[in-house]
Amino acid sequence: MSEHSYDHSHGHHDPNFTDYKDAVREYKKSFASKQDVMEQAPDPAVREMVKYMDDCGVENCFDRFDKQKPHCTFGLAGVCCRICSLGPCKITERSPRGTCGADADLIVARNMVRAAAGGVAAHGARAREIILTLKKAAEGDVNLPIIGVKKVKAVADMFGLDVKTKSVQELAGEVADILLEDLSRTVPGKHKTLEAVATYERKLVWEELDVIPVGSYHEVFEALHQTTVGTQGDWRKAMDQFMRLGVAFSMNSVVGGSIASDCLYGVPQRTTVKANLGVLRTDTVNIAVHGHAPQMAMEVIKTARSEKFQKMAKEAGATGIQFYGICCSGLSSLYRLGGVIPLSNANGSELVVATGALDLWLADIQEIFPGIMDVANCYKTVVVTTNESNRLPGAEHIGYKRDLTDLDKLPELSERIVTRAIESFENRKDIKRHIPEHEVEAEVGFNLETLNQRYGSLSTIASALIEGKIKGIINLAGCTNTRVVFEKSIVDIVDILLKNNVLVFTNGCASFPMAKLGYCSVKGQEKCGEKLLRFLGPKMPPVWHFGECIDNAHAVSVFREIAKYTGRHMKDLPFAEVTPEWSNEKGVGAALAFRMLGFNSYHCVHAPVQGSRNVQEFLYKGTKELLGSCMNVHTDPEKVAEMILKDFDEARSNICWR
Ligand code: SF4
Ligand code: FE2
Repeated sequence: MSEHSYDHSHGHHDPNFTDYKDAVREYKKSFASKQDVMEQAPDPAVREMVKYMDDCGVENCFDRFDKQKPHCTFGLAGVCCRICSLGPCKITERSPRGTCGADADLIVARNMVRAAAGGVAAHGARAREIILTLKKAAEGDVNLPIIGVKKVKAVADMFGLDVKTKSVQELAGEVADILLEDLSRTVPGKHKTLEAVATYERKLVWEELDVIPVGSYHEVFEALHQTTVGTQGDWRKAMDQFMRLGVAFSMNSVVGGSIASDCLYGVPQRTTVKANLGVLRTDTVNIAVHGHAPQMAMEVIKTARSEKFQKMAKEAGATGIQFYGICCSGLSSLYRLGGVIPLSNANGSELVVATGALDLWLADIQEIFPGIMDVANCYKTVVVTTNESNRLPGAEHIGYKRDLTDLDKLPELSERIVTRAIESFENRKDIKRHIPEHEVEAEVGFNLETLNQRYGSLSTIASALIEGKIKGIINLAGCTNTRVVFEKSIVDIVDILLKNNVLVFTNGCASFPMAKLGYCSVKGQEKCGEKLLRFLGPKMPPVWHFGECIDNAHAVSVFREIAKYTGRHMKDLPFAEVTPEWSNEKGVGAALAFRMLGFNSYHCVHAPVQGSRNVQEFLYKGTKELLGSCMNVHTDPEKVAEMILKDFDEARSNICWR
């Protein structure tokens, strides 16, 4: 961060002004270009597809990012405020305060609060839908079996419900009610999920800081309230709301959503598939599932695999119907139903459409870039949206209602969607395909339950950690970002960490390069240091794929269980949250949520805080004392890996481990 370099002779001295221009200028120089992606992306299939789209003159996010250059310095520094119409205001040397008098610290802090609120709302809205679906299934309003019987009982027990006398249906209904209440509480009261899952140590920390959320709804509401013009004037207090959102993100939006999904559909299972674009077939009806809400994707896959639709596909000249996964709906349907080929995260979705191989693209919510429509039109891929929160002009919409009153129609809607896919297959026989050859095996579905099955108990992992066979464990997650070479920071960091015996958990968008490049199979062992190899044995991959982004909840359960066996708090252990290429508001929320749990977070992408020395220092250092964790950023992945290794060594030496 650049030093305070204000020219006092100027006469507008403001002690809070931070000269961010040099830092941001330097930062902008590091931004990747499409050319860099074509040359340096670690996945050969990505390089090939970007080049292919370039040759065909079809635009994607890498072109659009280049066209956005030069990026707005004020926006990058976080000192652009559009909260009221006295503005927009920007903080510069000449104008160190907005019209209302807000300084850079306040503007940067408020923008971060609003970003975190966006993340809490995104995961929270998804959680709400799935909890409501569980409730409807429990109450018989929708004909969905409750598959996660063990999970329902375990969670009911955790909530202190009467598991002995009540039926699974009853318990599932009561669990859903508690999760909904925690998510949307209006009258302040006990947060039951937090009480049940947070450690005693964390509860004390959060209580002390007064950051225990009322619930996601309230904290998002309050975040928008506090950050409106002329309300919260103290940047440090705004950061308290930021931290409260971090706890709400984790305890309601992520844990609540994850519990409901597991109760309804069962806990994720380990499963192995082929991954990457080379698996795309030309003789099957090809359907991609993209997004985050599992309800429709799960039903469509089941429908397509029924005898009736297999027969219909064959009559249309296909050998069957194959599913492919984009982003998180793809991952969650893979570990629950098997056989869904992981192809790409959100930033690479246009590349997948451009293969010309997809007959139907099923888009639900979140990280569905509007840009896919133009590419889909080029290749006659039918895009079907399924959720009222995400409509795309030009797409067909076959979805359930906003109020979820017609969820019982899922089977009919699914039949329409699969029928549409088969029609599309017939209509697209003359469409040119371009399918890169790369494919590799990947295993997904790690979590506390499947690891307990594998190891008997996690004491095995805890011992390996104590003995130093495992130096530390990272949770590799987050999105991807056009500011850096697509997926390269993720791969570069992991390569260095594996060599240094760091075990990797992964989920969400960042997990795609891992799955596509062999890290989630035993092939990935080539990258490991000797000690880690000895721990893994011949059958385990070095990168454990937990699934979709809300499976952070499962990762945390595993970290918590390992910590328990070491007899230490998570904050004192060599654990880290690594989101090298984070980009969206959920990414702000996820890293923040992990910091609230005491994990340092590491990134190759700057948050928009360079415009405020106070906010930046608070996040980079100040929270260390409060939470035991802080944010660490460097645009060079090698430097980030070094920071992680150094911090792991320090953590180990602090607790007298080798
Ligand atoms: Fe400008 Fe203040 Fe309005 Fe923001 S809230 S736009 S800084 S006047
Ligand atoms: Fe996701």
